[in-house]
Amino acid sequence: MHFAERLYPQSRLSALLSGSSPNKPELDLSIGEPNVALDKKVLSTIPAGYSDLALYPRASLQYELQTTISRWLQSRYGSSRDFSISPEQIAILAGSREGIFMLPIALFNRQLQQGEQVTIAMPDPGYPIYLASAENIGARVKSITHKQLHQLTADASDTFTDWSQIDLMFVCSPNNPTGEVLPLKQWIRLIELAKEHQFILVADECYSEIYIEPYAPTGILEACVAMGNIHFDNCLAVHSLSKRSGLPGLRSGFMAGDQTLIKKLQAYRNYHGVSLSSIQLSASQAAWSDEEHVCKNRQTYSKKFTALTQYLEALPSYQVPQGGFYLWLDTGCPSEQICGHLYQHFGIKALPGHYLAISADAVNDYQNYIRIALVCSQEDIEFVGNAIKESILSCSRSNATGDHVA
Ligand SMILES: Cc1ncc(COP(=O)(O)O)c(C=O)c1O
Repeated sequence: MHFAERLYPQSRLSALLSGSSPNKPELDLSIGEPNVALDKKVLSTIPAGYSDLALYPRASLQYELQTTISRWLQSRYGSSRDFSISPEQIAILAGSREGIFMLPIALFNRQLQQGEQVTIAMPDPGYPIYLASAENIGARVKSITHKQLHQLTADASDTFTDWSQIDLMFVCSPNNPTGEVLPLKQWIRLIELAKEHQFILVADECYSEIYIEPYAPTGILEACVAMGNIHFDNCLAVHSLSKRSGLPGLRSGFMAGDQTLIKKLQAYRNYHGVSLSSIQLSASQAAWSDEEHVCKNRQTYSKKFTALTQYLEALPSYQVPQGGFYLWLDTGCPSEQICGHLYQHFGIKALPGHYLAISADAVNDYQNYIRIALVCSQEDIEFVGNAIKESILSCSRSNATGDHVA
C-alpha cells in the first residue's frame, strides 16, 4: 500500500482506541513530543527576529547558523585532531523529518528520470518516514532487522545479503523505537560496507543528546574520522532541535557530512523552497549555542527512567534505553490488547510496537511490543509505571483464563 493511503501509526492507534472512553484523563505517550520546559535564553531570541519577517530569509543568517552548527559538531564529535567540518558540509532543515523525506528525491532525481531503479534500506521496525521517503520515489525497499545490524560486529556474520543492491541506507542511533545505540565498531563496519558497495549511509541521530550520562552516543561523523574517512565520503548525519532542545514546534534540524551530497541536497532545496524563517534561524542559533538546557533535558529523562525502573524492573524485558526517551517493552501479550487496556483504564496512549514494522516478519516478531514515550511529568511516573504493570498482569491473566479485557 502506498504511504499516502496507509494510516500513520498514531492515526492507526486512534482508530484502535476510537470505541473506548477512558476512565481517567488522557495521557498521550504514543508520540515523541518532549514536553520539557522551554529554555528562556533560546526563547528570548525570538522577538528580535520579528522585523525580519518582512524580508525573505537572508542567506547570511543561514550561513551563521551553519557556522554555529559546525562548532557544535566539532565540540560534540571532534575529539580527534583530524575532525574538521565546514559550514558548507551542513544543510539546514525545517526539522529532520522533512530532510529525511526529501533526501532520496534530491539525490536520485536524475537516475529516476532516466528510469533507473533505486533501492533504499532501513531498520525494521523503524521511524515510518524512511519507508515513506522510499515509496515516494518508487524505490525498492529492503528492510534490515536490528539483529542483522548487530550480527555485523557481534559474531561477524552477515545475514543481510543485499548490500550490493543498495543505493541509500537509513540507520538510526539512538534508535527509535528500540533505544539501542550503535557502537563505534558497528559504525565502522557500516561505513566500510557503504564504501565497498558505494551506497549512501544516512544516520538519523536526532536523539543523540538524550542518553544516560556519561555515555554520549558515538556519531557517524566521529566514526568516519576514526577510520580515516575525514571528508565523510558517502555518509550523512541528521540532527534536530526537536528532542535535544525540546523544540519540536520550531521545525529545525540539519544534515551534515559528505559535501557532494550536501551540495545536491542544498541545490534541490533551493527550488523546493523550504528555507527557515529568520525567527527559526535565530532561535536555532541560540539553541545550538547552549548546552545547559540540553543537559537539563537529558537529566530530566534520566530521572524519569530511574523512577520508572522501581515499578518495572521485575518485567523480564524491561530495559532502560541506551539513548532516546522510548520504553520498548515486550509485554508477552498482544500489544493492541495492552494498549486498549492502558487507554480504557488509565487514559494512557501507547503505541503497539508492530505499527512501526516494515516487513511481515517484523509485524509478527513485534506483535507483543509496545512503545511508550517517557514524556509524562516526573510526578506521573508512579501512575504510568503501575498502569503498565497492571495492564500486563490483567491481560496475561485474562488470556490465560480466556476472558477478554478491553
Ligand atoms: C527517529 C526520528 N527521526 C526523525 C524525527 C523527526 O523529528 P523532527 O522532524 O521533529 O526533527 C523523529 C520524530 O519523532 C524520529 O523519531
